[in-house]
Amino acid sequence: MIELAELIGEGVERRVYLHPDNAGVVVKVLKIDDKPDRNEIEEWYLNKVRHVDTPFFPKIIGWEDTIHGKGLMFERIFDFNGEPSQPIAFHIANNNISLQKALRTCLDVLSWAEKQAVLVYDLNPNNLLVRRTDPDGNFEIVLVDGFGPKRLNWRTKLRVRIPTLARVRIRWIRKREIRTWDRLYKRNGSLDQPHAARSVAVTSGNDAAKARFFEAAKARFFGEAAP
Ligand SMILES: Nc1ncnc2c1ncn2[C@@H]1O[C@H](COP(=O)(O)OP(=O)(O)O)[C@@H](O)[C@H]1O
Ligand SMILES: [Mg+2]
Repeated sequence: MIELAELIGEGVERRVYLHPDNAGVVVKVLKIDDKPDRNEIEEWYLNKVRHVDTPFFPKIIGWEDTIHGKGLMFERIFDFNGEPSQPIAFHIANNNISLQKALRTCLDVLSWAEKQAVLVYDLNPNNLLVRRTDPDGNFEIVLVDGFGPKRLNWRTKLRVRIPTLARVRIRWIRKREIRTWDRLYKRNGSLDQPHAARSVAVTSGNDAAKARFFEAAKARFFGEAAP
């Protein structure tokens, strides 16, 4: 049983701590002991997609008993210079990565997912970790959350087994997100940054929506017209 003291991140479902004996390892514990167990689904799914050769997924290490219950360990993500990597939401907020660049990055992740028939259900900008690979601003994305099936049942298991079904699902999610974006845009007349990054991620299949989005985002955040 290990102690967990240093909290480094938190989402809706889990708290993420540093491993007390290894600064290169994070331990994810559930906030509420409830089903579906995101840790269990992630472990299951990462096993299924082991053949996909990609930097997009964090390396899974295994289970550990903790003072906060069962914890799933992953490698901690670091930049080229040894700094801990931060979510893309952080880099947008600190103007390290322009909104447009973030949006294009989300699009890339989605195209990759569709090509590889990898399931993605939540491209929330806190789930996309930016691993900076050099001092010039280049980076790769690590999806620390929001991949795989959202829950496990016969239908989602079929999607995992049959690539065509996975691709149909990804396209469906893209449409759903376009609707979300449209609603937000209509309601607010603009988009806040996290929503913007998230929504455009899924507009890749709809050029009109994408163009409108870039226009709104650029006007809102950069005071200029869309390219
Ligand atoms: N492997 C990791 N390395 C570094 N930071 C991480 C890692 N996994 C998660 N985090 C941090 O913890 C936060 C929450 O993790 P996440 O898995 O998204 O939890 P939840 O399922 O509750 O949303 C992330 O936004 C990120 O900042
Ligand atoms: Mg998350």
